[in-house]
Amino acid sequence: MHPSVFITRQIPDEGIKLLSTKKFKLDIYQKDQIIPRAELLKRVKGKDAIISLLTEQIDEEVLLAAGPRLQIVANYAVGFDNIDLSAAKKHRVTVTNTPSPELSEAVAEHAMALMLALARHIPEADAYTRAEKYQGWSPTLFLGTDLHDKTLGIIGLGRIGQALAIRAVNGFCMKCVYTNPNPNPAFEKTFHAKRLALTDLLKVSDFVSIHVPLLPTTRHLISSKELKLMKKTAFLVNTSRGPIIDETALLHALKSKRIAGAGLDVYECEPAIDCNIHDRLTLKKFPNTILTPHTASATIETRQAMSRLAAQNIIAVLTGKKPLTPAK
Ligand code: DGY
Repeated sequence: MHPSVFITRQIPDEGIKLLSTKKFKLDIYQKDQIIPRAELLKRVKGKDAIISLLTEQIDEEVLLAAGPRLQIVANYAVGFDNIDLSAAKKHRVTVTNTPSPELSEAVAEHAMALMLALARHIPEADAYTRAEKYQGWSPTLFLGTDLHDKTLGIIGLGRIGQALAIRAVNGFCMKCVYTNPNPNPAFEKTFHAKRLALTDLLKVSDFVSIHVPLLPTTRHLISSKELKLMKKTAFLVNTSRGPIIDETALLHALKSKRIAGAGLDVYECEPAIDCNIHDRLTLKKFPNTILTPHTASATIETRQAMSRLAAQNIIAVLTGKKPLTPAK
């Protein structure tokens, strides 16, 4: 009997084609929406493999609903905070993610785009021009700030953090400081970068970009105490996971002009942009926030690479080999 794979939503086709050439039986949830939980529990039954998205909680209930044939959950994301790894271990289910090189480049490009757009007021200036408010050149219209010679603080120097450093230092002549559990002397030498404690990084950076996974230790890593350490002229960028920033604290920091602005691709209560509307504060009201809908990895090259990698992981595990990119 050919192994069967459940895919929780339509994804770009390269991985699907790869699985089809291996004659795996594919069951794909066809609606272009997050699969309802009841449907997920029903459809995983008896499957050998699941391709899940970050929008699904893969916990013990799902693993039990799938049953004893299930060997692998291939998460279609580099982050895997939506998966209960200890439950997977208990049920001897392998978990994989998609840290493809393309993904690192795409997310770094998006972080760079948010930095540039914040520094040069791109969304506001675009809206202004479209609204036909432009009356002629002005010495002070939409005055922004340079990236050149400014300090970028990278929180988390993994693949994506490093890809961002390459762009910022080589492309935009920025200075770079970083936090990371381990020092990276080769990186420091190449990029004239300094590893700092988070508190020091926040004090010296003009742009702060977050590139750590969501873990119990990184939840609310940036809260009011940390925001108070930032320069008033500094911008905060998050393309990682929303709950790493305490959004209520961020709203207050924006309101009191503690920081210059924020570029966010992820949200604490995603897909909601605001967890609660306290004091009529919403991220949407600030002209100095740029909000994108978790699209940092949304390039065709990256989403195809993620599709291939998820499929390759499934093929490896279901043919008795080691997965290419186990979640760890
Ligand atoms: C990931 O891969 O974890 C991203 O957040 C998806 O875009």
